Formats: sequence, structure tokens, C-alpha cells
Amino acid sequence: MKIVTILGARPQFIKAAALSRAIASRSDVQEVIVHTGQHYDDNMSDVFFRQMDIPLPDYQLNVASSFHGDMTGRMMMGIEPVLLKEKPDGVVVYGDTNSTLAGALTAKKIHLKVAHVEAGLRSFNMSMPEEINRILTDRIADLLFCPSRDALNNLQREGFDHFACAVHEVGDIMKDVAVYYKDRGVKPVFPLPESFVLATLHRAENTDDAGRLKRLVHAFNDISMETPVVLPLHPRTRARLDKLSLPLNKSLIVTEPVGYLEMVYLLTRCGLVITDSGGLQKEAYFFGRHCITVRDQTEWTELVTHGYNTLAGVDYDAIMAARNQFFAREIVSNEGLYGIGRTAERILDTMAGTGGF
Ligand code: UD1
Ligand code: UDP
Repeated sequence: MKIVTILGARPQFIKAAALSRAIASRSDVQEVIVHTGQHYDDNMSDVFFRQMDIPLPDYQLNVASSFHGDMTGRMMMGIEPVLLKEKPDGVVVYGDTNSTLAGALTAKKIHLKVAHVEAGLRSFNMSMPEEINRILTDRIADLLFCPSRDALNNLQREGFDHFACAVHEVGDIMKDVAVYYKDRGVKPVFPLPESFVLATLHRAENTDDAGRLKRLVHAFNDISMETPVVLPLHPRTRARLDKLSLPLNKSLIVTEPVGYLEMVYLLTRCGLVITDSGGLQKEAYFFGRHCITVRDQTEWTELVTHGYNTLAGVDYDAIMAARNQFFAREIVSNEGLYGIGRTAERILDTMAGTGGF
């Protein structure tokens, strides 16, 4: 079986690490990797290939992030000739970025089978670019790999039982990655306090809304007066903070984006996670930390249901109350949400088996 993997943004490199490792252990599967170039800084892209032994991309399309139409269109123009030349049995896309949609749409239009890893997630907020990307990718995919029961239920509610596709609940591939790397954390180069909050912020719904961003900066600044806050800053957020001249307190430990192994180190030592990242919400859970999600919706609903994640939006009081309640309170869970860390193998077995590619 020959598959083409299409990726381009940070969380996709991390997810692909698990599947690429599973593929490398099999002689009957060949993987061709196409990097759209959506993320391009060393600390947003190359570092993950180096740290996580992901095979270097066979094709680099160099479509740097831009306006949605421009970016997605140029990705499709780059992907199509590659797929026509490689003639794979199927194409794998991850998550919900513009690279995901560009890959799925291009492949489907030339009658290639598409597998969507992280299918069925919904925020029910159609103003998010990610929600549009997910819904469209799910609708045209042939193999839909759901990370959770809630994701599977979403697809059933939308009528996927009646569509010409196969839906599988397989667990979350990011759990595989967390399990594999949990004891391989690497200390970041900057000085680290004994106890701290780990925070990230990058979603367009927060960064591109000056009011929301101001409220979040206010909360982060105030928390950092009492508890150190480590904030590896996404380039989108840095650009917005500079543009709006929003001041971050000196008490905040603001760094460049870090590699995955540094994130593992930070996750194993922090007392709490505050984020708008999808991936980090689950990693907080995998590493036994409570998460405060600074969004109005989450796709990882089961974490909220079980009390491991507080959906605080940009409500200052709610963020502060959750910080006071949950800092340094370890999560002990035995629900086994998101599988046992063997999702990549299940995906690969399904793709290679009857009813797969
Ligand atoms: C994208 C995804 C988002 C995902 C996130 C993961 C879309 C629509 N959004 O958001 O779902 O959660 O990736 O991190 O696909 N930039 C750099 N260097 C880089 C990459 C980006 O400077 O290596 C800056 C550029 O100014 C760029 C901005 O970040 O314009 C935004 O990048 P973009 O890829 O458009 O969106 P993300 O916010 O990264
Ligand atoms: N991450 C990282 N370095 C950082 C910030 C995040 O390696 O400086 C990792 C994080 O641990 C998780 C993934 O990036 O595995 C999440 O990606 P991101 O937050 O960019 O996107 P999302 O998951 O929201 O789509």
C-alpha cells in the first residue's frame, strides 16, 4: 500500500510522528510526505521532524501562510501534480487546518481515497476556519477516524451512517505520541521556576479580536504576579500583541515556540495549563494536569464533562477562579479517554485491511 500524507502545520507534524513510526515498522506500506509549507519557521516545523524522527518531506510546497483563499488555493495547485505523479492508494490528512482541507479536496477531486485522522470533532461555531475545514473534510473523506465517542456521535447525528464512507472510533493519535515521549522530555534552554502555569495562545478567534486578546493578556499578567506563567508564544500572537502594543508583564516568562520534547518537560512539571490550543487541552489530561480553556467552545467535550477542563472563555473572573481552584491539583483518571496509545496501528491496520484503501 502506498499512501501520501499531507501536512503543513505544527499539530500535524506531531500527529504524523505516530503514524510515520507505525509505518516504518511495516514493510508493506510506503509513505510519501507532502509538506504544504503552511508553517515554516524552524521552531514551528523543522524542529518536530528532527526531534520526532519524522521522515523528511518528499515534497515541500513552500506555500507560506497567507489569506485563506490564497493559501488553500496555492496548496491545492501544489498538491495535485504530486498526487497525479505518485498515484497512491490513498491520502491521509490530519485535523482541521487549511492544509487538511486542501489535501482532502484535491485528492477527492481526482478520485483518490481520503482518510481523515481526527474526524467528527465539532465546536458548532461556524465562524472558526477550523470548523469549516473539519466539516468539509469529513464530508468527502472515505475513512473517518474519530478520536472519541463524542466525535463519533457527532457524525452519526449528521447522518454519516447513510454516506458512502466508513467511520471508526480509534482513540486519539496524540495519546500515542504522549505515551511514547512521556519520559523523554528535554529541559528548555530558559531558566524555569520550581512551580508554574504553562500557557499557550494562538487561535484566530482570540488573537484577531482585540477585546478578547486584551482580556486574556490582563488575566495572564495578573496570574503571573502570583504564580510564574511560562508562555511559549505562537508567531501569530506575537505579531498581534506587537501591533496592538499590548504589554505583557515582566513577570511572564515569554519564550519563542518550543519543540515537542520541551513541551513534554513543561507538561510534566507545570501545575496547570491555560490554553486555546486543541492539542494542549488533551496533553494536559494525558500528563495529569487540569486545563483552563480560554475559548467559548471546545471540541474535546468529554474533558469538560469529566471535570478535567474548565471552559472559561475570556471571562476574567472565571479564569481566576479556576486558577485558584485547580493549580497544582493533579488529575487522577481511569476512564481511559482517547484509547491506550495504539491509535496509529489501528488506523494503519484499517487502511491496509478489507474496506480500507
Ligand atoms: C493554523 C491553523 C489552526 C491551528 C494552528 C496550529 C488554519 C486556518 N489555522 O493557525 O487551526 O490551530 O495553525 O498552530 O489553518 N507564522 C509565522 N511562522 C510560521 C507560521 C506562522 O510567522 O512558521 C505567522 C504568520 O504571520 C502567519 C500567522 O503566523 O500569518 C498565522 O499562521 P497560519 O498558518 O495562517 O495560522 P495559525 O494561526 O498558525
Ligand atoms: N506545542 C509545541 N510547542 C509550543 C506550543 C505547542 O510543541 O511552543 C505543541 C503542543 O504540545 C501540541 C501541539 O503543539 O502537541 C498543539 O499545536 P497547536 O497548539 O499549535 O495547534 P492546535 O492543537 O490548537 O491545532
